Amino acid sequence: MENKRIIVTGGAGYIGSHTCVELIEQGYEPVIVDNFCNSSLDNVDAIEKITGFRPKVYETDITKNLSTVFKLSNILAVIHFAGLKAVGESCEKPMEYLRVNVGGTVNLLEHMNQANVKKIVFSSSATVYGDINPVPFVETMPRSAVNPYGSSKIICEDVIQIACKYQNVKAVALRYFNPINSHDSGLLPEKPIGRPNNIFPIIELSASKRRIMSVFGNDYDTPDGTCVRDYIHVCDLAIGHIKALEYLDKIDNGIFEAINLGTGRGMSVLQLIKGYEKAKKTNVFFEYAERRQGDIAVSYADASKAKKALGWKTKRKPI
Ligand code: UD1
Repeated sequence: MENKRIIVTGGAGYIGSHTCVELIEQGYEPVIVDNFCNSSLDNVDAIEKITGFRPKVYETDITKNLSTVFKLSNILAVIHFAGLKAVGESCEKPMEYLRVNVGGTVNLLEHMNQANVKKIVFSSSATVYGDINPVPFVETMPRSAVNPYGSSKIICEDVIQIACKYQNVKAVALRYFNPINSHDSGLLPEKPIGRPNNIFPIIELSASKRRIMSVFGNDYDTPDGTCVRDYIHVCDLAIGHIKALEYLDKIDNGIFEAINLGTGRGMSVLQLIKGYEKAKKTNVFFEYAERRQGDIAVSYADASKAKKALGWKTKRKPI
């Protein structure tokens, strides 16, 4: 395993921890770098329970000195999840988002350069398609940000492209659509610290605490009036990272590829709620509320590049 060491920044988080499980199951050794600002050691315990292997953890901020981490031998690649991800908060603290997301990525690439690590898989987002493109979103479309979080992802992609061109790095930026659900063991639920922003943990809270949630808008130009998203099971998403690592072995240094990870199908908020109720045999309590500022009506992926380049497509129903 030690010959297949992968640095996973943000590896204790929601997507990061699922990816660590998948890495271990595929014979890699994840090494977690996390400051636990939106995650906890519980996820590391869960990774160990599920796989029988406890990853090494470096508790540190992605913007800080990472030399100790990069002193490790046999680092094959980096998977970079660490960053801030709340859209609303990014509008209140835009510079904080740039400092952590962009500054953290620059810092990471500097350490990679010093340690001669040339492969990176970056956690990008469908948010880079902004509100200017028709669905389905294709990787060649122009990017556009509608908030500082989106800007930070676009800038990170650009920063990584510069590292590809001038530091001989090769990179895959995975543009995630909407990851939901969790590992079958039930040990890795999405547990944001503080109030959740994304819909799935909000649905779970509504069901478990019998709390009324808001469905933001039912007057969109969609079949049932609620927003449509491309919800993808987080375990499928995790597998996409392993495929991206394998893909990096097939391309030359200097290459940067952006690849969508989605199902290619849209599901409305109402369909998601109904699907959850059916799958978990429970009730979700909701009321219609005003549209949420900044939401687009419909978002789903053209998932053909992932299939062609990575040999990856989703296998699970998201719910
Ligand atoms: C959001 C971000 C996106 C980010 C992604 C990943 C916005 C505008 N976009 O995507 O940039 O990459 O998270 O973290 O925030 N909904 C409700 N009630 C709720 C919460 C959500 O009806 O209480 C609806 C939303 O209006 C949306 C859908 O559920 O239609 C999904 O929302 P969410 O999980 O926040 O994801 P996105 O908005 O698609």
